[in-house]
Amino acid sequence: MASWRGLPHRAIMSSSRISFFEVEILDCKTKQQLCFLDKVEPNHTVNDIKLMFHKCYPQWYPARQSIRLDPKGRSLKDEEVLRELPVGTTATLYFRDLGPQIGWTMVFLTEYAGPLFVYFLFYFRMPFFYGLAKAFTSSPHSVVHLACCCHSFHYIKRLIETIFVHRFSHGTMPLKSIVKNCFYYWGFAAWLAYYINHPLYTPPSYGKKQISLSMIMFLICETGNFSIHIALSNLKIDGSRSRRYPFPTRNPFTWLFFFVSCPNYTYEVGIGNSSLSEHVLIRLH
Ligand SMILES: NC(=O)c1ccc[n+]([C@@H]2O[C@H](COP(=O)([O-])OP(=O)(O)OC[C@H]3O[C@@H](n4cnc5c(N)ncnc54)[C@H](OP(=O)(O)O)[C@@H]3O)[C@@H](O)[C@H]2O)c1
Repeated sequence: MASWRGLPHRAIMSSSRISFFEVEILDCKTKQQLCFLDKVEPNHTVNDIKLMFHKCYPQWYPARQSIRLDPKGRSLKDEEVLRELPVGTTATLYFRDLGPQIGWTMVFLTEYAGPLFVYFLFYFRMPFFYGLAKAFTSSPHSVVHLACCCHSFHYIKRLIETIFVHRFSHGTMPLKSIVKNCFYYWGFAAWLAYYINHPLYTPPSYGKKQISLSMIMFLICETGNFSIHIALSNLKIDGSRSRRYPFPTRNPFTWLFFFVSCPNYTYEVGIGNSSLSEHVLIRLH
C-alpha cells in the first residue's frame, strides 16, 4: 500500500469528497488481526479509533487500550490525528491491553482516605496494637490530640482538593499500581501513628514553645500548599489538559514560583518537618 506521507491534505480531503482511511488493528503480541475498520475519517483521533475498537470489544474500554504504530513502540496519544500519523490510507495499528484501569480521582481518594482511617485505629488504641490493658484508653498529653487533629486536617484537605481543586491531565492508571501507592501512604501513616499514640509516649522536651512553633510552621505550609494547588489548577482553567509554566500570582504563598516550579512539594516538606519537630524529641520509656 503506497504511503501518502508528504502529500498535501487536500489530496486526502477534497471539498466534495472525503477519502476515508482503512485501519486494521493487530494484537501486539500475536500480530493477529483483531479488527478492521473501514471508512475512518482522516481527521479522526486515536481516541475515536479506540471508541470504534471498543464497539468490537466491549471488555476493552478506551482507557485500557494502548494503540501503537509499532508493537514495541510508544503508545499513541488520544489526541493524535490519523491523517498526521506516518501511515498509509490503510493503516496498521497495534493494540495492547493495559489491564483494568482506575481513575486518578479515585486513586487519590483511596490513597488519602486510608491514612485518615489507619491513624484513628492507633489513636483509639485498638486492642491488637498496644495490648489489651491499654485498649481504648486515651493519651493524657494534649499534643497527642493536637497531632491527631493536624493529621486528620492534612488528609481531609487533600481529599477536598482531589474533589474540588486538582485538574488531572491523565485519565487513569493501572489498577495494580494502586496497591504499591497505598502501601506507601497507609504504611507510613501506621508507622508514625504507632509511635505518637503509644502509651509510653512522652511530650516534646521543649514543651509548649516547640509545639507552638511547629504548629505555626504547619499552618503556614498547609496554606502555602493549598495556594500552590489553586495556582496550578488555574493553569488549566480553560479546560486544557496540558501542563504549563507556572507563575507567581498576587498571593504571596505562590511567590516561591520565582525559585522553583513545584513549591507545593517545598510546602509539603515543611508540613512533614513541622509535624516531625512537634514530636522529634519523643521518648519511649
Ligand atoms: N507526602 C508525600 O510523600 C507526597 C507525595 C506526593 C504528593 N504529595 C502531595 O500531593 C499533592 C499532589 O501530588 P502530585 O504528585 O499529583 O503533585 P503535582 O504533580 O504537582 O500535581 C498537582 C496537580 O497540579 C497539576 N499540575 C502540576 N503541574 C502543573 C502545571 N505545570 N500545569 C498545570 N497543572 C499542573 C497536576 O496535574 P497533572 O499531574 O494531572 O498534570 C495535578 O492536578 C502534592 O502537591 C503534595 O502536596 C505528597
